[in-house]
Amino acid sequence: MPKPSVLVTRRIPSAVLAKLEGACDVEMHRQGDLPHDELVSRVTGKQGLLSVVTDTIDRPVFEAGRDLKVVSTIAVGYNNIDVAAAREHNVVVTNTPDVLTEAAADLTWSLILSMTRRIVEGDRLARRGAWKGFALDFMLGTDLRDKQLGIVGFGRIGRAVAARAAAFGMRVAFSSRTAVSSPLGENMPLDRLLSTSDVVTLHCPLTSETRHLINQTTLARMKRSAYLVNASRGPVVDEAALVWGLENHLIAGAALDVYEREPEIHRGLLSLENVVLSPHLGSSTIETRTTMIHLAVDNIIAVLSGRSPLTPV
Ligand code: GLV
Repeated sequence: MPKPSVLVTRRIPSAVLAKLEGACDVEMHRQGDLPHDELVSRVTGKQGLLSVVTDTIDRPVFEAGRDLKVVSTIAVGYNNIDVAAAREHNVVVTNTPDVLTEAAADLTWSLILSMTRRIVEGDRLARRGAWKGFALDFMLGTDLRDKQLGIVGFGRIGRAVAARAAAFGMRVAFSSRTAVSSPLGENMPLDRLLSTSDVVTLHCPLTSETRHLINQTTLARMKRSAYLVNASRGPVVDEAALVWGLENHLIAGAALDVYEREPEIHRGLLSLENVVLSPHLGSSTIETRTTMIHLAVDNIIAVLSGRSPLTPV
């Protein structure tokens, strides 16, 4: 029996590649993003596709990949995959939930802390030699203690962010599509959460309902002293509206890990001191990425050897 063939859109570590090659014939794209037209032509004849968040796995991919049985994405979010088209073509889609939850929650807190304590702004100032020495009123940030953390989207990552809040003395409010109660905080409608929270952090998936959830209207609902954090998906925030909101002091600051048109960042954000920008680092620790890639490869091998996937979407 010939081995099933798999297209891998990004370079993966040699140990994981060896595991995949034990079960499959592997064609791996080694340099940067795989252009979409190349993805469409190279997927033809493949049974498996191992992909990342920046690959657009749309209907043309499934139409060209008539032999596809599984698309495995090395990510928890799968808004880049047309899951309905996958179903129509009988292709299993898998993702990598759970294994990145803690890393994503840690990154979120590092954004909250670096923004409210002005770490990145201070780093910029120190590097350009503008630090004139200690002063009692120099670069004052904001305490988190006794403030409200508003979490939009209360899935695995939202809950892991909430679980860390007690360590900083914050009370938690959350807003969730599926009404749930939680010992971690108070469930409240989005509108109330926005108007009462001191830090609003987004952890919802990108869907047609959440695209531009943060826009001019919702920004205007937030406290002028509040901060916004986005480590979910860029288009959940209307970046132009956010720039407008920051320039007009509707909110105190923002920390972003994701952007509407990655790797492009709205020019208006680049010059604002009260904005922390990280380049999509949510799950990027050595341990977490290694575990994610192993899980994604295990999903491919499971499906192509006739077993159930470990983590289907
Ligand atoms: C990263 O953005 C992910 O969805 O895992």
